[in-house]
Order: sequence, then C-alpha cells, then structure tokens
Amino acid sequence: MKKILIVFGSRFGNSKEIANFISKIFEKVATTVELVDLKETKRKNRPSVDGYDGILVGSGIKIMKWTKEPLAFLKKNKNMLSNKTLGLFVTSMIKLTDYEQAKKDYCEKIASDIGVQPKIYDVFGPVMDFSETSNLGSLNKGILKLAAMGISKDFGIEIDLNGLNDFRDWDQIKDFANTFVELVKKE
Ligand SMILES: Cc1cc2nc3c(=O)[nH]c(=O)nc-3n(C[C@H](O)[C@H](O)[C@H](O)COP(=O)(O)O)c2cc1C
Repeated sequence: MKKILIVFGSRFGNSKEIANFISKIFEKVATTVELVDLKETKRKNRPSVDGYDGILVGSGIKIMKWTKEPLAFLKKNKNMLSNKTLGLFVTSMIKLTDYEQAKKDYCEKIASDIGVQPKIYDVFGPVMDFSETSNLGSLNKGILKLAAMGISKDFGIEIDLNGLNDFRDWDQIKDFANTFVELVKKE
C-alpha cells in the first residue's frame, strides 16, 4: 500500500481546506495519508519524508511569495525528494488572469530555484473574502481589495468587493489529486 504525505502552509486557511479535501480523496483510494500543517507543527514533530512514496507540498501566495515553512521543507528535504513522487500546488489570484504564468512563477520557478523535480504541479484559484466575517484583517483586506478591483476592471471578472469570493475549482482539484495518486501508484 502506498503512503502519501501532504504538507502545506496557509495564511488564511484556503490552502488548508484544499489540503484537507485532497487528503480525503487520497484516503478513498485506500492510500495511507498523513496531513501536516507546517505552520502549526513544530519542526521536531514533523514526519520524515523517508517513509512516504508520494509527497505533496502546498502553499498560499501573498505578495508573490509562498509561505516560508513549505519552502524550507522543500529545501531541507530536496535530496530525499529526488526519488519520491513529488507534487506541488498553490492557491493564487493570478490563476484568474494568467494561469500559465502563475504555474511558471509559483511552481516551475520555485522548483528550479530550490532544485526539486515535481512530477505534477498546479495552481488553484484564490479565495478573496471581503465579507464581515473574513479572517483577513483590515490591512490584508485593503491590499487584496485593490488587487481585486484591478482584476475586475482589466479582465472583466466579477468580484464582490463586500462578500466572499471563492474561486477554487473543486473539480480541478479532484482531477489533480487523482492524477497524483496514479503517479504514486506507478512508481
Ligand atoms: C494581502 C494579500 C496579498 C496577496 N498577494 C497575492 C499575490 O501576490 N499573488 C497571488 O497570486 N495571490 C495573492 N493573494 C491571493 C491569495 O493567494 C489567495 O487569497 C489564497 O487563497 C490564499 O491562500 P492561503 O489562505 O492558503 O494563504 C494575496 C492575498 C492577500 C490577502
């Protein structure tokens, strides 16, 4: 039976929900799955990649940057990752305007800078929560709202500047997860 480790860093919970969703898909196909929130788990409590066949690493993007913990994870484990099935995913608002560029900037460039070779990677849509119950805080909300207004104006994408906008495509995420499982099974 194949073993998969999912590690992620999420600032506002959106990649976390994606990681949870993917882990449920992995569980259904009878794979052993471990899910680790790198921001919440102390270094000494993180599992070694040693025991896993497939490793999926995810992050949200803020001001063009991954969260630092999954980047550090990739750097620390890059040698051991070379003989595993490695996958990367991010959630990013650039998915809405230039999906191919987002894949280049947030997956391909990161992988080549660190020196890892993912067998699969993808960019998922963002969540932009401008509602009263948003967990963004006023500064982040202001920054994101400016970006959202630009996207809306330049690309004609409808964005509710006072509400919750969830642009994650769960079918895309499901397909990604299933393809990852197939790749792990092939190894
Ligand atoms: C302050 C702020 C800055 C952001 N900057 C970017 C950015 O530079 N590029 C991008 O593609 N998405 C950007 N986003 C959108 C986030 O990537 C998106 O909301 C994502 O779903 C966050 O995932 P997380 O909750 O897992 O961190 C930004 C969001 C916020 C709130």
